[in-house]
Order: sequence, then structure tokens, then C-alpha cells
Amino acid sequence: MESYKKLLLANKAWVKDKLSVREDYFLRMAEDQTPEFLWIGCSDSRVPAEDVTGTEPGELFVHRNIANQIIHTDFNMLSVLQYAVEVLKVKHIIVCGHYGCGGVKNALSHKHLGLINKWLRNIKDVYRLHQHELDGIADGDRRFRRLVELNVQEQVWKLAETSFVQHAWKDEQRPYIHGWVYDLHTGYLNDLLLLSPDTNIEDIYKFDFD
Ligand code: CO
Repeated sequence: MESYKKLLLANKAWVKDKLSVREDYFLRMAEDQTPEFLWIGCSDSRVPAEDVTGTEPGELFVHRNIANQIIHTDFNMLSVLQYAVEVLKVKHIIVCGHYGCGGVKNALSHKHLGLINKWLRNIKDVYRLHQHELDGIADGDRRFRRLVELNVQEQVWKLAETSFVQHAWKDEQRPYIHGWVYDLHTGYLNDLLLLSPDTNIEDIYKFDFD
């Protein structure tokens, strides 16, 4: 059987399974979505957001890109963020990176990979910001793991610097922004940092709202 046909067959089995638990499962799901979480993760196939968090359809609003980047000119990410914060009114945003991230690994190298270099360049900036700490780590694998963590940390702060988040922090004391790292070897999520709505961001990034 061709591999893609397996997916369509599995879909039929999944529908049957859901309906066996609740007859109206899809009727209720089709009504509306009220997710409490925005998940921003890596595109890596080994980090499925719902599976690793035990969540069901309807619980996570999801954006994934290579190496879970927050880039302030990325209209895809910005549109997802605005919709999640202003319309869905999510309570939490989770930026989830993962150890062994190919994007971070390539950013650490000098390989020329074409277009993707432009995207990974942002991780080289994270490296430069934390070069002193990173260059002090002799073990290459540990340095790689630390850059994965610092990359998540920087993206969390970049979210806090957006006007959407600043506005919601001021008016509605949400969302909380979490930085997590998924460990491919153990399956566990490492809870790195949390910014609450009263966090003071660097002055230069602050906006005045009337
Ligand atoms: Co990755």
C-alpha cells in the first residue's frame, strides 16, 4: 500500500473511535473553538504539540516553523499571534523548542543551505548575543543544548516586545508567556521560563497606548 493511503485509512478509524466515545463529537467540535493556549513550536515531525501535551482538538491554537522563531516581519506568525491574543483571547502562549533541533544545529555551522540560511540567521544572532556564555562551554553537545534553550528564551522575550502582547498585558493582564524545551530522548518537557503580564521589558521596546 502507498504510504499516504495509510493516513486516509487511519483517519476513518480515528473518526470511528471518536464517535464511539461521543456521538456528537464532531458536531460540538464544528461549533466554535475556544483554545486557552497558543503553541509556537518547531516544524520537526518528532514534536507533535497535541501528543506531547496530552491535549485534544480544540485545546491548542498552533503555529510551527523551523526552530520556533519569532521574527517581527513574519506576517504568518504575526497574524496567528494577533488572532490568538485579540480574538481567541488565549491565556497562555507556549514557545516550545527541542534539543537536537536541526535548525539550531545548522545555525551553529557554516554550511550554506540556500534560502533557509536567511531564516537560521536569526539563531546566529542569538548565538552572538550569548557568545560569552556559549564559548565558555567546552563540550559541543552541551553548547548545542544551551543554544536551544537560549533560542527559546530569546523568542519568549521577542513575543513580549510585540504590540499585541503589550496591549493585552496592560488591558487584560494576560497572556502568560512560557518557554519550554522538549527532550527527544526522554519525552519530557523542560519548563525554562515564564513571563507574567507584569514583566518589565526593556524600555526601548515599550509602546505608549492611549
Ligand atoms: Co527543530
